[in-house]
Amino acid sequence: MAVSTNELLAAARAVRENAAAAFSHFKVGAALETTDGRIITGCNVENATYGLTVCAERVAVFKAISEGYRQFSRVAVVADTQEPTPPCGACRQILWEFGGDLEIELANLTERKGTHRLKDLLPLPFDARLL
Ligand code: THU
Repeated sequence: MAVSTNELLAAARAVRENAAAAFSHFKVGAALETTDGRIITGCNVENATYGLTVCAERVAVFKAISEGYRQFSRVAVVADTQEPTPPCGACRQILWEFGGDLEIELANLTERKGTHRLKDLLPLPFDARLL
């Protein structure tokens, strides 16, 4: 059962509303598509130390892993900006390690902003194959 891009973006937009972004006021939503057609969402979670913030993408990956999902095909990332919000470096690493060469859909609240492959955003990745 495939997930449509619109469904994936809608899930990312909806979970973005849950962002705990009291410090940056920059709310982000992420929606991870599993290969068996489920959607696992995440929002950014900030805290008073700032440095312990976890981005929406990593929240989605960690939720998915802890719920037993290991196979992913796409991730959507949504912020309320004109310029697309691509995953930060830390999130690219985690997405790569758990999702491989995912398709990444970037969008804002009203429109799609682009589709990328993770290997283009994270060339020459370090991962467990090199250990
Ligand atoms: N953030 C994300 O959640 N995902 C991104 O792709 C970029 C940045 C969050 C982290 C922080 O809570 C806020 O956005 C500002 O950097």
